[in-house]
Amino acid sequence: MGDYVTVTTDDHGVATVRLDRAPVNALNPQVWGELGEAAKSCTDDDGISAVVLWGGPKVFAAGADIKAMQSMSFQDFFAHGGGIQEAFKALARIPKVVIAAVNGYALGGGCELSLTADFRYAADNAQFGQPEITLGTIPGAGGTQRLTRLVGVSKAKEMVYGGDFYPASDCLAMGLVDKVFPADEVYDRAVETARRYARGPYALRMAKRAIDDGVEMDLDAALRLETTLFTATFATDDRRIGMDSFVEKGKATFTRR
Ligand code: CAA
Repeated sequence: MGDYVTVTTDDHGVATVRLDRAPVNALNPQVWGELGEAAKSCTDDDGISAVVLWGGPKVFAAGADIKAMQSMSFQDFFAHGGGIQEAFKALARIPKVVIAAVNGYALGGGCELSLTADFRYAADNAQFGQPEITLGTIPGAGGTQRLTRLVGVSKAKEMVYGGDFYPASDCLAMGLVDKVFPADEVYDRAVETARRYARGPYALRMAKRAIDDGVEMDLDAALRLETTLFTATFATDDRRIGMDSFVEKGKATFTRR
């Protein structure tokens, strides 16, 4: 697809969005543009039912490209800096289950990239962090917001104020990471889980929307959204297939329609 981001789909409907910009997958405007395009194809392509986001076996991403940012002015960033936020928003809005498989460093924008996924599977050698403060700046792609919603205010402040790197085991304990695997297994395990979700019903999209949108609302509004989306599942073939299969004591094969 692009120079640095490719999307390949296996015959189970699992797409791998692969970031590949040696040596550390630093994110420059071209990379986040390509990530935004990858998000669009994962959203639009009906042949894709689940997604794995991967930076390869060595490093997930060491953040925004510091060398490219070094000479940028306030005006440069004010005019163009929002692009990374837009691209990450497009990834977070993919209406299918997305798992980030993290080997090595996920720092700054790399940690924030992993936060756009539903789940983070980490290699036992992975390290996460928001080191922007050590550069005299702050996270600019969700690290003060998605991170806070995931791990809570105090832990997010500790990570953002301190700029330290955290090993996978600490990230597991704080809920930033969902599972930890040996480094050479993490991608395969993410694909394996993604295949399970790829066989799931259309209702998975409603569940993702209900949780992701609902968490931004007050409880009453969020419960109304849940009711609307619960009701909407009754317009799907998969709701009928699921309930018919239960009543007939069979096993549901969903069509994702
Ligand atoms: N941008 C550009 N280049 C980077 C980079 C980055 N974020 N991170 C590493 N590199 C480059 C290094 O400059 C080095 O290049 P040279 O070989 O040309 O010198 C190469 O990648 C390898 O890096 P190191 O020699 O430092 O390798 P290491 O194994 O000793 O350390 C590292 C690896 C821990 C990732 C370390 O390089 C590091 O701390 N990188 C910076 C991480 C960081 O601060 N990220 C936040 C960026 S700001 C941001 O992301 C803002 C936002 O919210 C959007």
